[in-house]
Amino acid sequence: MSFDRSLKIAPSILSADFANFGQEIEAVEAQGADWIHVDVMDGHFVPNLTFGPPLCKAIRKHINTVMDVHLMIAPVDPYIDAFADAGADILTAHLESGPHIHRTLQAIRGAGCKAGLALNPATGLDDVEYLLDMVDLVCIMTVNPGFGGQKFIHSQIEKVRKLRAMIGDRPIHIEIDGGVTPETAPLVAEAGADVLVAGSAVFKGGSVGNPAPYGDNIRAIKAAVQG
Ligand code: DX5
Ligand code: ZN
Repeated sequence: MSFDRSLKIAPSILSADFANFGQEIEAVEAQGADWIHVDVMDGHFVPNLTFGPPLCKAIRKHINTVMDVHLMIAPVDPYIDAFADAGADILTAHLESGPHIHRTLQAIRGAGCKAGLALNPATGLDDVEYLLDMVDLVCIMTVNPGFGGQKFIHSQIEKVRKLRAMIGDRPIHIEIDGGVTPETAPLVAEAGADVLVAGSAVFKGGSVGNPAPYGDNIRAIKAAVQG
């Protein structure tokens, strides 16, 4: 299958009803989500705590698209097998999570997952050069990781443009995470991103009992990009 560089929306379940993940995932997929983004936080690498492998395993059976797991944890390596066993399709680790990100990415692919590399807003692209042949996705954080609903950091648009040029023809997704709205989405899509994570902008106004706003919100982001 050829590499799919078309625009994809990955709703972050960080903005879903935590008492109802299974139904929330089914609702947002029925409303047009392309991937499901799962934010794992450890209260150490980032100042917030969410969930770990058992919850990922429990929600896996509700995901029919792609389970995109964003690991905001340090260290990462001791937990890779557990998240792979939980059914992650993509495991994304932060470049800043430790001194041996090369080994971490090797281990992720070795566990049978696609490997993602996330960069905090302050991190430049120099250290990415020798990792590009071992990643399937680079995630540019457009907020400081830890919380949903933060303001988009515009300086990252130029980083996306530079990364797109570095990637060239390689089959690597560029994912944007944080502050994606119909206003900011066209800026990063135009710069070269193909996967847009969106938490608050997708889940706002809806619920499992009233999921139509999820679809309206997803279509509003896509329409803003596609003009
Ligand atoms: C932040 C998370 C994001 C977050 C995005 O650390 O990685 O995935 O849920 O939320 P919004 O779209 O509300 O900025
Ligand atoms: Zn995320």
